[in-house]
Amino acid sequence: MAIISSKQSHSEPERRNPRTTRPREELLQPKAMVDEHGKQEESIRPQKFADYIGQKDLKEVLDIALKAAKARGETLDHLLLYGPPGLGKTTMALILAAEMGVNCKITSAPALERPRDIVGLLVGLQPGDVLFIDEIHRLSRMAEEILYPAMEDFRVDITTGKGASAKSRSIPLQRFTLVGATTRAGSLSSPLRDRFGLVQRLRFYQPDELSQIVLRTAQLLQTAITDDGALEIARRSRGTPRIANRLLKRVRDYAEVKSAGSIDQSVAAEALTLFQVDPCGLDWTDRQMLTVMIEQFNGGPVGIETMAAATGEDTQTIEEVYEPYLMQIGYLQRTPRGRVASPAAYQHLGFNPPNEQLSLLP
Ligand SMILES: Nc1ncnc2c1ncn2[C@@H]1O[C@H](COP(=O)(O)OP(=O)(O)OP(=O)(O)O)[C@@H](O)[C@H]1O
Ligand SMILES: [Mg+2]
Repeated sequence: MAIISSKQSHSEPERRNPRTTRPREELLQPKAMVDEHGKQEESIRPQKFADYIGQKDLKEVLDIALKAAKARGETLDHLLLYGPPGLGKTTMALILAAEMGVNCKITSAPALERPRDIVGLLVGLQPGDVLFIDEIHRLSRMAEEILYPAMEDFRVDITTGKGASAKSRSIPLQRFTLVGATTRAGSLSSPLRDRFGLVQRLRFYQPDELSQIVLRTAQLLQTAITDDGALEIARRSRGTPRIANRLLKRVRDYAEVKSAGSIDQSVAAEALTLFQVDPCGLDWTDRQMLTVMIEQFNGGPVGIETMAAATGEDTQTIEEVYEPYLMQIGYLQRTPRGRVASPAAYQHLGFNPPNEQLSLLP
């Protein structure tokens, strides 16, 4: 296990705000880390509908679609899943394929750059297969155009030769289900979006749902944990199962070394405080953003560019990764004039909320 030190490395530039120090490891990043693609990860990924915790609305819609398709002996409609990273899009695609009793071929839009990549993949599909395309908003124009007739009429049109001798040919495909995943539904072209029969959003998980996920993973990892230990990890996991599982593993290491017992609330809280995971799951960047808004801009409105400059993150990461969670817990609002910090954010960071300041005025 990597030893995490709270000391800053020398290369780290000195921060203006000493309130918090930036952790060296990004434990709270919702995107998968390099070491999170292994066998152990796959062993904790739920394989059945029943093991997929939370996302009640999504599960209800898909359960009906699945049963109806099965009863008619048809394939499932094409499905677009969107939402922040780590909420279970890939997991759901794999579960759907398993429930339909078909294979799931997994790819990602950047791997489909050349037309022949996507044509090869489509032609190789078996009847009923699920084709999962991650980051589908990044498909090239050409790949998209190949996908349209494939999704609609289950055929690919290819052109061979050039100029006057060019010939176009249509290859029939097996019926399949395309499952597209994206963190940016708004970046999808509308002709592509319109070709999905089902468009479903994944939501952040509630602490009690994450707590069930932590208990389930702990059981698979054969780690003893109490209900309140699981809840403590859940509360600090930014509504994201991937983060919950990652924090659980770190807390498990800590518990093995420090307490040699089961993970209870105090062990979880101690370990996560050591790893600089705040009680609401905020990390250095979240705190820095909110602090700059409060201290320098009276809580906002502040433009996204300013937040990017204050944290060293790019605007896209702030919009896709940081803001959705801060908005979800009610610490940040997006307004047409910029971002605004809420009184709850003031309180959490130890500032007097703006209306309290007003009420102190004579
Ligand atoms: N509903 C759930 N119940 C239990 N565990 C879950 C659930 N959703 C996700 N997980 C766990 O979280 C991990 C991350 O989920 P997954 O890989 O499906 O996320 P994703 O939405 O595809 O993320 P990305 O956008 O980064 O591709 C999985 O390995 C799985 O163990
Ligand atoms: Mg994924």
